[in-house]
Amino acid sequence: MKTRKFIPCLCAATLLLAGCGGRSGEVTLKKALKDKFYIGTALSVAQLTGGDTLSERVARENFSAIVPENCMKSMFLQPSEGSFFFDEADKFVAWGEANGMWITGHCLVWHSQAPDWFCVGSDGQNVSPEILTQRLRSHITAVVSRYKGRIKGWDVVNEAILDDGSWRKSKFYEILGEEFIPLAFQLAHEADPDAELYYNDYSMAFEGKRSEVVRLVKTLRERGLRIDAVGMQGHIGMSYPAIEEFEKSLLAFAEAGVKVMITELDLTVLPSPQPNAGAAVEATFEYQQALNPYAAGLPDSVAAAWTGRMADFFRLFLKHQDKVSRVTLWGVCDDDSWRNDWPIPGRVDYALLFDRQGKPKAVVGEIIQSIKN
Ligand code: XIL
Repeated sequence: MKTRKFIPCLCAATLLLAGCGGRSGEVTLKKALKDKFYIGTALSVAQLTGGDTLSERVARENFSAIVPENCMKSMFLQPSEGSFFFDEADKFVAWGEANGMWITGHCLVWHSQAPDWFCVGSDGQNVSPEILTQRLRSHITAVVSRYKGRIKGWDVVNEAILDDGSWRKSKFYEILGEEFIPLAFQLAHEADPDAELYYNDYSMAFEGKRSEVVRLVKTLRERGLRIDAVGMQGHIGMSYPAIEEFEKSLLAFAEAGVKVMITELDLTVLPSPQPNAGAAVEATFEYQQALNPYAAGLPDSVAAAWTGRMADFFRLFLKHQDKVSRVTLWGVCDDDSWRNDWPIPGRVDYALLFDRQGKPKAVVGEIIQSIKN
C-alpha cells in the first residue's frame, strides 16, 4: 500500500506534534506547506465570537487560509431585500487579517442557504429575468465591494452542475438559464477587479460533472471573463470517490487553464445511507444507532485506515502542487465538522485533521514528514 512508506517516520513526527497544535518553534502544517499551497480551514460563528476558543487557537496556529462556513451565504448577508447584515462577516475578515490569513469568500450564488425572496416574488412565482439580474447585481456588488482588496478570492457560483453533467434546475437556472453564471462572474469582477474568482462544486470526480465543468471554464474564458480556479469541495468517504477519478478531474481542470483548489475537505468514517454521497446539504436521513458505530471512540484499525486514505489524498495534492493553490479543510477540530450532523443528525464523526482536544492527528505528522523527505 502506498501509505506504508509514511509509517516509519510517523512516531517521530507524531511525538514532535503531540499535544501541540503549533507552539512556537514546532513544525506546523502551515509552516511545512508554506511553499506548496495554502492550507485552509472553514471558520464558524462560534470561533469568530469567542464561543470556541480551542478551535480558534488551532486555526490560528496551523492554517494559512480561511473561509467562512456560513456567515457569507446570502440568507445571512441579505435576509430581506435591501437589508444587509455584515457583523459576522466583518469579524471574520478582521480575524483573518489580524492573523495573516489568505481570505476566501463563500459563496455569492448558490441555490441553497439563499433567502426565499431572492428568486420569488410576493405572488409566489419566479421573478422575471430582469428582476433577478438586478438582484444579483445589487447583492454581488454590495458584498464584493465591501471587502475589496481584503477578500482575495470568491466562490462565485456554488454547485450549479449535477453529477451526470446536466444543469441543476435551480431557480437561478429556471429564470436565467446558463447565463446566470457568466453574469455572476462579470458582476464579481466589476466589483473587485483584483479578486480571484472560482467555480466550486462537490462530487467532481464524476465523469459527467468533470466534462461539464471543463466546458464551463472554457466558455467563461472564451468570453473573456475572469475565472482563476475550480474548487473541488472534497467531502469524501472511505469508499468514494476513487482517487484515480479525483486525479483525472484535477488534471482536466488544470488542463482547461485554471488552478485547482480543494475547498471543503473532510473524510467521513461513518457508514453512508446513500451511495457516492456527494454533499447535497438538503439530503437528510433518519438517525439509526447502527449508522453511528463510533460514538464511544474510533477503533485503532479504523483510525489507521482513515489516516491512510487522508494521507493518500494529501500525497496526490503534493504530487500536483504546481496545479493546486489551496487545500482547505471544512472545519478545524472533529467536533466542529458538519459531518456529525449531515446527512444524519446526531452522529459522532472523525472527519478533520485535529481531534476533539485540538491535537493534530497522526496524518498531520505524516504530511509534514513526507514534505521533509
Ligand atoms: C454547510 C455548513 O457546514 C453547515 O453548517 C450548514 O448547515 C450547511 O452548509 N457545500 C458547501 C458548504 O458549499 O457551504 C456546505 O456547508 C457544505 C456543502
